Amino acid sequence: MSAVPVAPGRRTADPVLEIRNLSVDYGYDEIPVHVLRQASLTLNRGEVLGLAGESGCGKSTLAYAATRLLPPPGLITGGQVLFHGRDGGSADILAMSDAELRASRWQDLAIVFQGAMNSLNPVFRVGRQIADAIRAHRPSVSQKEALERAADLLDMVGISPDRLRAYPHQLSGGMRQRVMIAMALALDPQVLIMDEPTTALDVVMQRQIVEQIAELRDRLGFSVIFITHDVSLLIEIADRIAIMYAGEIVEDATAQDVYRRPRHPYSNGLLHSFPPLRGPRRELGGIPGSPPDLARLPSGCPFRARCAFVFDACAHVQPELVAPDVPGDDPRRTVACLRHDPARVEAAGFTPVPVPPELALR
Ligand SMILES: Nc1ncnc2c1ncn2[C@@H]1O[C@H](COP(=O)(O)OP(=O)(O)O)[C@@H](O)[C@H]1O
Ligand SMILES: [Mg+2]
Repeated sequence: MSAVPVAPGRRTADPVLEIRNLSVDYGYDEIPVHVLRQASLTLNRGEVLGLAGESGCGKSTLAYAATRLLPPPGLITGGQVLFHGRDGGSADILAMSDAELRASRWQDLAIVFQGAMNSLNPVFRVGRQIADAIRAHRPSVSQKEALERAADLLDMVGISPDRLRAYPHQLSGGMRQRVMIAMALALDPQVLIMDEPTTALDVVMQRQIVEQIAELRDRLGFSVIFITHDVSLLIEIADRIAIMYAGEIVEDATAQDVYRRPRHPYSNGLLHSFPPLRGPRRELGGIPGSPPDLARLPSGCPFRARCAFVFDACAHVQPELVAPDVPGDDPRRTVACLRHDPARVEAAGFTPVPVPPELALR
């Protein structure tokens, strides 16, 4: 496997955001669809946590639910989202009053939505839009001060401050996305959630934006949840990566471990669906088939119909996140696959099948 630089690990076990067993239903007619099921994630201070999975697996739903911005018919049916402030205090975002939420949402936590670069108002100059965003939350700041801050923010994301006077249509897609990042950073958040921030951009621009985010993280010390369907982007920027499939987290490990030693058959397939960024091109394996209909989830493992390593228990037993059954693994990594959970297989009356070498790389 070719060497790929991986973001330096800064795993300090100092959580800033802990998502615990978060579940979301979408209410189609009377039958709720369980779109997000018991998702748990921990974001440590200063870390970039990547969240990857095919389109429709529930990544945006997780981000909206965790920030209480989920629109109807989405409904949070369970879970906690613990935010640990700089002052040592903690709060469950899902249990906050609306007033507490308004006060904290933009101060502590900022989100760049999927497609955000198209949400700038076409009739106002970008400087004014950033200044308005600042003044909406800090009414005591004067317009002049807000514009000065807007100029600093633009400079920070690599846009010349003279672009303050530009209208959105005068900026490229990449620049508009940088403006959205500047706006998200305006109130000095501790956590930045970015939902597919580079998806609409070309590959060169994607890289520049990813590098910029990494550089800003190093300089300003915020933490990031970076959501993308393209796991190869995360290998470069993320400290940890969580892989989602059909509404569940199926693997959670350091970026190095996900890249070099994927334990879940789906992670393994995803990594082979994207060309390597550097080194020799290799044949794309891809994953045959498509994700299940969330309204008609199969029994047992939701990935089993597409899995190259399926065995009889997979149709009957639901996998849960456990430490993989590979000696020497990082004890903090988890995977939801019965190949790695012989105890659960045996308890359900089936015979465990060994971990295949492809899922036990060291
Ligand atoms: N407003 C909505 N109403 C009903 N279903 C939705 C809505 N938004 C998303 N879904 C469904 O929820 C699932 C997860 O969607 P989403 O969170 O957008 O996935 P991702 O961001 O990973 O592409 C999909 O099956 C999608 O069809
Ligand atoms: Mg999405």
